[in-house]
Amino acid sequence: MSYQPHPTFRYARRIKHIKPRFYGGERWLRFRGRRVKVRVDPSGRALTVVQAPPDIMQELTQLKKVRVVDGRLAVEKPRAPVTPTASPAQPSPTQTLPPPPQPAPPPATTPEPAPSEPFQAPEPTPEPQPEPVEQQKPQKPVAEVYPAKPPPLTRKEIEATRRAPVPNKGRIPAPYIRWNFVEKRYYPPEPGSVTYMDYPSPDAKKGVLPELYHAFAMNRKYVTEGKDPVSIMLHGPAGTGKSIAVEKFAEMAGLPYYYIPAEPAAMTSEQLLGRKEIESTPEGGYRTVWHDGTIVQAARTGGILHIDEFSLMDPEVTARLHELFDSKRRLSLEGLSGELVRAHPDLFVVISLNPAELGIEGVKRLSSPIRRRFRGIYMDYPPLHHEMEVIKKQLGFKDTELNPPSTTSGVATGKYGKEITQFMRILNDVRAKQSELAYVPTSSEAVDFGRELKTGTDFETAIHRTLLGKYVGDDRLKINESIKAHVPTWRGE
Ligand SMILES: Nc1ncnc2c1ncn2[C@@H]1O[C@H](COP(=O)(O)OP(=O)(O)OP(=O)(O)O)[C@@H](O)[C@H]1O
Ligand SMILES: [Mg+2]
Repeated sequence: MSYQPHPTFRYARRIKHIKPRFYGGERWLRFRGRRVKVRVDPSGRALTVVQAPPDIMQELTQLKKVRVVDGRLAVEKPRAPVTPTASPAQPSPTQTLPPPPQPAPPPATTPEPAPSEPFQAPEPTPEPQPEPVEQQKPQKPVAEVYPAKPPPLTRKEIEATRRAPVPNKGRIPAPYIRWNFVEKRYYPPEPGSVTYMDYPSPDAKKGVLPELYHAFAMNRKYVTEGKDPVSIMLHGPAGTGKSIAVEKFAEMAGLPYYYIPAEPAAMTSEQLLGRKEIESTPEGGYRTVWHDGTIVQAARTGGILHIDEFSLMDPEVTARLHELFDSKRRLSLEGLSGELVRAHPDLFVVISLNPAELGIEGVKRLSSPIRRRFRGIYMDYPPLHHEMEVIKKQLGFKDTELNPPSTTSGVATGKYGKEITQFMRILNDVRAKQSELAYVPTSSEAVDFGRELKTGTDFETAIHRTLLGKYVGDDRLKINESIKAHVPTWRGE
């Protein structure tokens, strides 16, 4: 082998990504995922590669220019030839043109944030902007670019994830969630910010939250063994706290919370799966950039994927999710970016929906392939005394204002106790007729009713404002009957 000189790269200005304390010294960087030792010129404007694996050294020797980005060296791609724009199926999944995202090897030169501290997690690394190049005016090239993505977990990391204990309440340690790729909007709600009262029901003897913790633990155990995941479906009538229960779980567990309202009007399939965009480059060219949608981001980083109103989801998107919900744990982006995304072992899926069986308008039955992949918890309206606790909490009532009974048949005490008990009984009566009504009142009406009382409104007016006023025709007659059953003095209209 002939002697190879140490390649040196010079820059017009000081290298932005190298701190002055390294000037005149040496430091490790990464190149194509391998470690490379560089000596930094005291001026901060030149780098000499002093140590690298032979093949890497050879490659570096042949390069005219490299950029330093976030602890790694990146190749400045030649400007030509021009690649035609869209040939969507081609790009190999993990490829980035130019520089591929490097899987971070353990001796990272930039320290990773503490993995279980979501609020300290930095913004996802933006796609680095190339330094200005002093060359002749380039043509307008079109390249396909895939921004840096979280590298899949190694076998060791999956093992460590499996061993991490899952408590039955509070924060769930998840040492390998890719927090530095989680967008801020998917951070869990601030501790204590979600008001949700858990209560026991036939399918969740200790409440829904302990069931979710249990399912999370089972999911982690099975998925890391390559078996079917454990995912949860919360279903039941409107307003029974299905959505808010999952949000509370995310708050308590402190995990990334990917919330998806499934109705196509709320989020397009591009927002769910991803999209390609043509962007201009600083050199005056154009490139096509693939941006992951919410579901894909969730699959890569791990955390809670909550698909709300699942039965309204676009069937084309649902079809793609089947493999994500079974032991394959992958998401095919065939026809989009072409990639096959492997799910993070701590991806935990919860769907919530109103089941078609309740006769709610416009709700389709859930398909068998989906039902097979989910455990179900039926969430009915809470028992009367639990719902009064919800009202108390939501309105910040003191015991002297509302003190709910300990059983369904009891009467609450306190200033508003009797009237709220009466209203709750009316609601229960109305809910028993749910299949005949166009709309079934939820806890929201009960809270609204309590609010009216609090501002001094009389009982009758409060009923009109918060309940009866919503109904017309036959439905209105039925509501009137329910009120009369509990308020003998009620005159109706
Ligand atoms: N157990 C509960 N604790 C606290 N608030 C609750 C509870 N159940 C329902 N609520 C209140 O009722 C409202 C409706 O709850 P939520 O949106 O979670 O119901 P849902 O079952 O998802 O309804 P939908 O089927 O219409 O989506 C919420 O704003 C919440 O404030
Ligand atoms: Mg909901």
